[in-house]
Amino acid sequence: ENSIKQSLPLYGKKAMVTAGPTYEAIDPVRFIGNHSSGKMGFAIADELATLGADVTLISGPTAQKSNQNLKRIDVVSAKDMLESCNAIFDEVDITIMCAAVADYRPKTVSTEKIKKQENNLTLELEKTTDILSSLGSRKKTNQILVGFALETSDEENYAKGKLEKKNLDLIVLNSLKDTGAGFKTDTNKITIFNKALERTVFDMKSKTEVAKDICEVILKIIK
Ligand code: CTP
Ligand code: CA
Repeated sequence: ENSIKQSLPLYGKKAMVTAGPTYEAIDPVRFIGNHSSGKMGFAIADELATLGADVTLISGPTAQKSNQNLKRIDVVSAKDMLESCNAIFDEVDITIMCAAVADYRPKTVSTEKIKKQENNLTLELEKTTDILSSLGSRKKTNQILVGFALETSDEENYAKGKLEKKNLDLIVLNSLKDTGAGFKTDTNKITIFNKALERTVFDMKSKTEVAKDICEVILKIIK
């Protein structure tokens, strides 16, 4: 059995995957979240494990069940996710940031449930740390860092901009314009850009198949 494991293409490699949404607390009973189901990230984590990698999946709140063959860390907020990523990033060879991390969180979290009073309520929000950017800025040359870009317009330019700005090796563009692609579906349609800004366009597929495509591209750029 050991020799079978050792023959797998990612045997001996450590991988980290983020998945799902983050929840940013408003008060003890409310939060700001998003529609991410976690399906894409869980599928990628599964595929990396199948290819022999030692996988840690850092997941926001989802209903997904993970495979026995990977280590799972459950987190709630963007801050929790950042701390978990920071704790293991230096040891991993491959990082894939699939999570839909909140860009803003309430500046203060009310310790009591906010009561309804006036007709209008304003919440003050502050920016969260961009986890992917911060990992990109401390990445070593032998580490592979993959980001996602979720766009609704001018998709390719925004995706290429994120690849460069965040110092990524690959970016996976997910266009919400493609029906059957995105948050709650079981299918996805992606385009991948590499560092040379070369584009590979994939057909609409199940998220399991999309995960295989992404991992195949990663295998090709691994040293
Ligand atoms: N990301 C992250 N931490 C954040 C926000 C985003 O790690 N606080 C990561 C996501 O996991 C994804 C990538 O950054 O891999 C791009 O996320 P996206 O929301 O598409 O882009 P942003 O840079 O947040 O820009 P915007 O939402 O304004 O398009
Ligand atoms: Ca964002």
